[in-house]
Amino acid sequence: MTLERLQKVLSKAGIASRREAERMILEGRVTVNGQVVDKLGVKADPLVDHIKVDGKRVKGVEPHVVLLLNKPRGYVTTVKDPQQRPTVMDLLKKVDLRVYPVGRLDFDAEGLVLMTNDGGLAYRLTHPKFSVPRTYLAKVMGTPDEGKLDRLKKGVLLEDGQARALSVSVLQQKEKNSWIRVAVTEGRNHLVKRMFEVIGHSVLKLKRVGFGSISLGTLPVGQFRSLSAEEVRELKREKFGVRGSEFGEGEKGTFGVRRLGKQKRPRSAFGGFSKGK
Ligand code: URA
Repeated sequence: MTLERLQKVLSKAGIASRREAERMILEGRVTVNGQVVDKLGVKADPLVDHIKVDGKRVKGVEPHVVLLLNKPRGYVTTVKDPQQRPTVMDLLKKVDLRVYPVGRLDFDAEGLVLMTNDGGLAYRLTHPKFSVPRTYLAKVMGTPDEGKLDRLKKGVLLEDGQARALSVSVLQQKEKNSWIRVAVTEGRNHLVKRMFEVIGHSVLKLKRVGFGSISLGTLPVGQFRSLSAEEVRELKREKFGVRGSEFGEGEKGTFGVRRLGKQKRPRSAFGGFSKGK
């Protein structure tokens, strides 16, 4: 009999990252042999014990999968929302595997969300020590000048510490607002919005178009696809370059899972957002 901490058993079985599994345990969603375990430190053997998460039996190791979802605005990036709002899981109802989101994307933001059942990969992509770049298109009030963009690159002070843009540039300037492309290497809460707030340009819309080596490409809003083996290999690499070609880039890989609805190509580089000011 091999006893291991419950969160380790769950992450090895591909249920969640270890951190997420700890949260599931503390939320009282895990039972072992019919008993709710809501404290950390309990050990179990998946071959002997009857382990359930949200009432579903945890059986053996699932094949790893990584999905790329284009999250619409109005969806929470979590498996379960205590406020009963729509979650990214509602967009993946036909996926049998127990995938979960890699990091967060705000309720009112749209774009690239990776979903996986590979706890090791999720850790590799989200732990701050790996500095994985995330690229965003932000529609902001007004147009920041070069000096302000430089401040973002040098680093601005937020209430939870310094934050720095890996790269930032103006893509499109309008009378009252502009579209900015910005890359950061952390997943702190509302990071991009807070950084732009500091330089006096509130974010009006936010879309994530890149995560590590993966680009959103032309995947329509609300749809998902599985990453190809090559894309997953790339994602597991040590270092990432930030690409500048998220716009109009063709889709990659084949779809191992069903798509939702019909395929539509976005009309512009900012596909999905209205063009109004
Ligand atoms: N920065 C934000 O402000 N929000 C996100 O969802 C991601 C990055």
